[in-house]
Amino acid sequence: MNDFQFARIPKIHFGPGSISLLPGILTHFGSRILVVVSKTYSKTSSFPLLFNELSKQTIQPEVVDLSGEPSPLFVDTVVQQKRPFQPDVIVSIGGGSIVDAGKAIAAMIPMEGSVRDFLEGVGTRSHTGQKTPFIAIPTTAGTGSEATKNAVLSETGPNGFKKSLRHDNFVPDVTIIDPELTRSCPADISMPVGMDAFTQLLEAFTSTHASPMTDALAFSGMERVVESLPQVFKDPDNLEARTDMAYAALISGITLANAGLGIVHGFASAIGGMFPIPHGVVCGALLAPATRINIAKLKQSEANPVSLRKYVETGKLFSYKQKSDDYFLQLLHEKLREWTTTFNIPKLRMFGITDGDFDRIISGTTLKNSPVELSRDELMQILTEAS
Ligand SMILES: [Fe+2]
Repeated sequence: MNDFQFARIPKIHFGPGSISLLPGILTHFGSRILVVVSKTYSKTSSFPLLFNELSKQTIQPEVVDLSGEPSPLFVDTVVQQKRPFQPDVIVSIGGGSIVDAGKAIAAMIPMEGSVRDFLEGVGTRSHTGQKTPFIAIPTTAGTGSEATKNAVLSETGPNGFKKSLRHDNFVPDVTIIDPELTRSCPADISMPVGMDAFTQLLEAFTSTHASPMTDALAFSGMERVVESLPQVFKDPDNLEARTDMAYAALISGITLANAGLGIVHGFASAIGGMFPIPHGVVCGALLAPATRINIAKLKQSEANPVSLRKYVETGKLFSYKQKSDDYFLQLLHEKLREWTTTFNIPKLRMFGITDGDFDRIISGTTLKNSPVELSRDELMQILTEAS
């Protein structure tokens, strides 16, 4: 067994209807609340209802809304505008980008300077970890940001980047996971973010940094995704399936924070800084080819039988048949490819990526904690298949 550490996790409130706990939870923090919300959620009927509940406790939150992914400029602007308000707690209600935005704002309220100065690979300052308390309420089931210690900020363009603001203290203090909130999430978001959750679980499961703790959690998450992601596609209103996916997404955040990720996320960091492509789409497009190449290389090199066995175990989630290991390895790749097609995950070229961009993408890609070394040619094969 590898030596391992296991990071703190938030206080978790999980279950349909659990958002009703928010007003009570807020009383532990204070009355000055800054809410960071997605434009989509702010337009739903639930948002004014939540405000009514808060106003019963004479809580009048300040609200900031955002669509798309947060940039350093967005975080700096909100921090400058809202610092005089001196929020007691920051609450994010939205998808992974909104959770990341709130996490970064909470980290920067007590800190002078631009958030750029603290971004990994961009700035040179290290953060003390001092922050405003932060509550994450995800409305999509995907990134797992509600359980991680990093906030991803991005700038696109020729000098674009997608980089993390990271500190152990940035794990949200509380997360409220109410699967009801994900019910209205449309398929073109639910399916890619669900593929992202599965990618995170599989990459953590097969990672060189996996531990028995992360293995048990990651496998329990993948079981739910295999069962329920196709259900969400067929019947978006299916609360049981939505609940499974909300669980899987949460667990994917916990396992990625503790076991790391693999080549799909290596590509995603590079591509995300160069092109305005949703993170879930990048993962959904790359997952099947990356899994195929990883398995082929593991079989060929015999370097890591433990991770190869884990791919077999994951393949078994798709069938009750008694078959050979090779059967399940092939089945896993086939099912992931089938998901990509069935769930209408677009190819990368739909977002403007061409063959001419591949060299630049590969130069910016790291293997992270991939179970096996991959050559430049193998990375090229993965990109070609996903594009
Ligand atoms: Fe991801």
